[in-house]
Amino acid sequence: MDIILIGAPGAGKGTQATMLSQALTVRHISSGDLFRKAFDDRTPLGLQTQKYIDLGELVPDALTVSMVLRCIEEPESTHGVLLDGYPRTLPQIQALDVELQTIGREIDLAIYLPVPQEELLKRLDGRLFCQAHQHVYHTKLKPPKVSGVCDLDGSQLYQRADDKGEPLRRRLVIFFTETIQLLDYYKGQNKLREIDGNQSIEQVQKAILREINGYIGKTTHI
Ligand code: AP5
Ligand code: MG
Repeated sequence: MDIILIGAPGAGKGTQATMLSQALTVRHISSGDLFRKAFDDRTPLGLQTQKYIDLGELVPDALTVSMVLRCIEEPESTHGVLLDGYPRTLPQIQALDVELQTIGREIDLAIYLPVPQEELLKRLDGRLFCQAHQHVYHTKLKPPKVSGVCDLDGSQLYQRADDKGEPLRRRLVIFFTETIQLLDYYKGQNKLREIDGNQSIEQVQKAILREINGYIGKTTHI
C-alpha cells in the first residue's frame, strides 16, 4: 500500500507517519528527514541542499526527486511506502507516478491533515527532536519524561533551526500558496481524504486508520 501524507509544517505528518508505518508495516519516507540526515552525514547532497532548508525554501526538484525515488526502489519499500513531505510540486508528482507505474504500483490514498495556522505555530514553537533518531517531542503537548532527553534512546533533544523566524514563515507561505494546490490532483483521482488534524494525536491516528481500513475493505471486496 502506498500512501501520501499532506499537511502544513506542524500538521503532524511525521508524528502520524511514525505510528502508522508500524501499524501498517510500510516504510516511512520523510523527505525532510532524508535531507537533514544527508547534511548531518556531510554528503554532497546534504551540503548542496542545506542552504534551501535554512531559508525555508523548497529544495530544487532535480535533487529531491532522485533522492526519494532511490528510497522507493530499495527492498525495504517493497511492501509499500508512507510518504511524508513528498510530493510538493507537480514535477515531483509526475516523477512519483512514473516510478510507481514501472513497478506495478500506484498511490492508493493521499491523506490531507488540515490544521489552523495558530495551532501550527503553537506546535512548531515547542517542537523538539532527538539527536539520534529524530523522535519528535513538544515541550507542552508531548513532553519527554526527562526534560531535554529522548525517552526512547536517551539522546539530547534540540530545536530545528527552521522552526523559527523567517524560515518558518516561508515554509508556511509556500505550503499555503504552492503545495496546497496539489490537493486538486489527488481529488481529481478520487484519492484525496481529508482528516481533521486539529484533534489529539490519538484521535487523528484512529481517524486515519479508519479511512485506510475502509479503503482496504473496499478494494479487497472488488
Ligand atoms: P519537512 O521536514 O518535511 O518539514 P515540514 O513539511 O515543514 O513539516 P514538519 O516536519 O515541520 O511538520 P510535521 O507535519 O511533520 O509535524 P510533526 O509531526 O513534527 O521539510 C523541511 C524542509 O525540507 C522544507 O522546508 C524544504 O526545505 C525541504 N523539503 C522537504 N521535502 C521537500 C520536497 N518534497 N521538495 C522540496 N523541498 C523539500 O508535529 C509538529 C509538532 O506538533 C510536534 O512537536 C508534535 O509532537 C506536535 N503534534 C503533532 N500532532 C499533534 C496533535 N494532533 N496535537 C497536538 N500536537 C501535535
Ligand atoms: Mg515532519
